[in-house]
Amino acid sequence: MVGDNVGAVDGLVDRFGRRVTYLRLSVTDRCNFRCVYCMPAEGVKLCPSKDLLTFEEIRVVVETLASHGVRRVRVTGGEPLVRKQLPELIASLKAIEGIDEVVMTTNGYLLGRDAVALREAGLDGLTVSLDSLQADRFSKMSRGGSLERVLESMELASQAGFERIKINAVVIRGFNDDEVLDMIEWSLERGHLLRLIEFMPIGADTFWSDGNDNGCVPAAEMQAVIGTRWAMEPLGMKTGAGPARYWGLKGPASPDGQGRVGIISAVTQCFCDSCNRIRLTPQGGLRACLADDSEVDLRAVLRGGEGPEGVYKAVARSLWGKAESHSFDLEGGAVTMKQMVSIGG
Ligand code: 5AD
Ligand code: SF4
Repeated sequence: MVGDNVGAVDGLVDRFGRRVTYLRLSVTDRCNFRCVYCMPAEGVKLCPSKDLLTFEEIRVVVETLASHGVRRVRVTGGEPLVRKQLPELIASLKAIEGIDEVVMTTNGYLLGRDAVALREAGLDGLTVSLDSLQADRFSKMSRGGSLERVLESMELASQAGFERIKINAVVIRGFNDDEVLDMIEWSLERGHLLRLIEFMPIGADTFWSDGNDNGCVPAAEMQAVIGTRWAMEPLGMKTGAGPARYWGLKGPASPDGQGRVGIISAVTQCFCDSCNRIRLTPQGGLRACLADDSEVDLRAVLRGGEGPEGVYKAVARSLWGKAESHSFDLEGGAVTMKQMVSIGG
């Protein structure tokens, strides 16, 4: 059995030598938005709260991972801020030895309410998902979200001390692809780091399969558009800081060339060879790869009393099964059955 080999490996390393240092931790599959690329209009089947990992169970998992080399945790959802008492969880993660950084991706809707508490809990950084600067479009893409409220929340988060908030924008042809230049300039003016994301075919029966299967705008096309307004200098990937490839921009709102934009191109320029991450679903499913539905059930391990050693073994086993790379196929259907909202991006 593959699992029998894992004890021999030092730290969390897969068969291709990739070391895991980063955990994406989804704390809920609930969300107060319904973004078209993330879930179906009717929402997804939600799990009862007894099925969620408790904060204490999450703490045990993260502590175990940290003792084997994980250094950075990104809290995601669904929308993480709909999980009650989230700042308490952040504080407990921050207290774990070995964890250098705890950051969060949010849709921003509840950020105004929670920014100060999150800051006090020690949250190190924020990424806000923001796909359009036009209120009607924003509402269409998020199926009812309020742009005004998100922008207000971002302002409150800045006042609470969150500097250089990152922005994620999923670029979809026919929806917001004509806004790329405006979004970059807006972000540069405000000191936000914008990352443009290729639309990925994640989740069965979604928007992708509803006739929007040409919605993915390839990174090369985004670059060509950006090049019409800025001189671009490739900065490559800062390893450990996620899969975005960054560009230095010289031109409007960045005359000195210090401005940056990132492009995350999971579809057309696979970055699997530098993958440093694993994902944990709200129910305790450990996913070694975003594009592979196999999960190892850490909740069963925890509730079965197997303790941290059991958790480590289960994680190592899952990693051992991690494929060398995924293949998002633009012609084909979605690569996963699960929706993005249940995985956490
Ligand atoms: N393709 C690309 N990005 C996606 N996200 C959600 N669904 C998709 C998709 N199908 C992004 C969200 C969020 C991050 C966690 O994942 O915009 O910023
Ligand atoms: Fe909610 Fe984020 Fe998915 Fe939008 S992308 S529906 S905000 S979880």
